[in-house]
Amino acid sequence: MTSDQGMCAVVTGAGGLLGTAIAERLAIDGYRVAVVDIDVDTARQTVDRIESAGGTALAIECDLRDEGQIAAAFASATEAFGPVRALVNNAAIFPLNAFVDTPVEELDETTAINQRAYFIAAQHAARAMIEAGGGVMVNVASIVWHGRWTQMVPYVAAKGAIVATTRALARELGEHGIRVNAVAPGAFKGRGEAQQHPDLEAYEREILGEQALKRRGLPEELAAAVSFLCGDDSSFITGQTLNVDGGWIMS
Ligand SMILES: NC(=O)c1ccc[n+]([C@@H]2O[C@H](COP(=O)([O-])OP(=O)(O)OC[C@H]3O[C@@H](n4cnc5c(N)ncnc54)[C@H](O)[C@@H]3O)[C@@H](O)[C@H]2O)c1
Repeated sequence: MTSDQGMCAVVTGAGGLLGTAIAERLAIDGYRVAVVDIDVDTARQTVDRIESAGGTALAIECDLRDEGQIAAAFASATEAFGPVRALVNNAAIFPLNAFVDTPVEELDETTAINQRAYFIAAQHAARAMIEAGGGVMVNVASIVWHGRWTQMVPYVAAKGAIVATTRALARELGEHGIRVNAVAPGAFKGRGEAQQHPDLEAYEREILGEQALKRRGLPEELAAAVSFLCGDDSSFITGQTLNVDGGWIMS
């Protein structure tokens, strides 16, 4: 039995590819998981998978662009499972546009979901964790912030902000026993990839050419890194961003 047993974890975007794997893994670790997503049908599917495996979860419909809905999601999670002890900020959108053609509304929308919502969710979580005497947060960033990718400036900017926010939060919240880390996934197969790369076969060849490991990563492998950062085995690690990318970026 670890300290995770029965505690409340909130995972945003947990109806999506990586969020589902993360929520499932945290349930296996013993958390009771609030599965937050704007798409409540996929959130329910994640809950079904968790419950089928013997875990406990609750689907919460929430548009993370709306501050009030984020507050309501945390209230529902707390009512169901007690104070939030783990937060995984994971939801994001992936718009793809040449910079000169990118409407400013796309920047606003991407920032709202990929950065502003992470901030607001972390505030709700931090207040609960300070009262409880500790907790863990993991922000899902991306390796794109290293700067080799084009036609996605708002996305890259938000992911860089998440890496910086992770460090700032780790510094400020450490005295309360709260650890804050990030994972930076490489390329995992999902809806975002299909939107960004119409020629998926060519993209796959490019990925395998870049990665040190010559195979595609599995969502479960990203979830395992999140599990590590949420668990006691990483008890002296905070403010870090862990690349989970098969050795694509080495810095
Ligand atoms: N898949 C990859 O290869 C990859 C690579 C690098 C980083 N990432 C990051 O991993 C995370 C998850 O990506 P994914 O591939 O699972 O994407 P996905 O599209 O499968 O899942 C994203 C989820 O976020 C939800 N969402 C979107 N807008 C929302 C909103 N306004 N309110 C609430 N929920 C909303 C979607 O409904 C979806 O379920 C993201 O932060 C992404 O940037 C993914």
